[in-house]
Amino acid sequence: MSKPKIALTALAAALLAGCATGPTVEQQAAYAADSRAAVGELVKTLLGELRQDIAAGGPEGAITVCRDKAPKIAGGIAQKHGVSVKRVTFKPRNPQRSTPDEWETQALRELEQRFAQGVKGDALEYYQVVDGPKGKTFRYMKGLVTAELCMTCHGTPETIPPAVQAKLAAEYPGDKATGYLPNQFRGGVSIQRPL
Ligand code: HEC
Repeated sequence: MSKPKIALTALAAALLAGCATGPTVEQQAAYAADSRAAVGELVKTLLGELRQDIAAGGPEGAITVCRDKAPKIAGGIAQKHGVSVKRVTFKPRNPQRSTPDEWETQALRELEQRFAQGVKGDALEYYQVVDGPKGKTFRYMKGLVTAELCMTCHGTPETIPPAVQAKLAAEYPGDKATGYLPNQFRGGVSIQRPL
């Protein structure tokens, strides 16, 4: 009769040790839900601003939404959720801002592969607790897929109006973020939460 007791004690000890060394599975799921909500707010706000500015000043006028407003919107959402928020991609328009780090590269590869296998929407997410020099961080990545609206600035010469092509060429030499069709893997939103 003493054997199961020992096993149970060992299990309890293991669980307690888990609590001391990092967030539980449930805590991670809660962080993931909060990250998902933050990405949802970012995408919704950006799309709203894009539509509004395209209607007001044409697509060439809306370029500033992605360039100047996007980081500000992301900053506000980051502050509200106590995280950092960054857009990353393998095909950057603005490599200074959107080049993925090592973890982000691995997460994007994983999500791109899942997308190729047919995974869609909210399921296109990847998260992990990562040990770093400054302690543990909860890291989260949500995949971004192109839609019809994105074609005005990320599509082909047939879908990008000449005025937009001219402005992109002037502002983003070496732009890699064109040539997309709708429903292709574009990159992701990366969230970091210090624990
Ligand atoms: C009006 C033009 C315009 C439209 C429409 C647009 N973008 Fe962008 N996008 C840009 C510009 C300009 C940048 C570079 C922003 C910067 O300087 O940080 C950019 C950057 C990005 C980035 C950051 C990575 C990078 O390449 O630097 C992602 C991700 C992105 N766009 C996704 C999308 C998606 C998805 C859509 C459609 C829902 C979309 N964009 C629609 C102009 C646009």
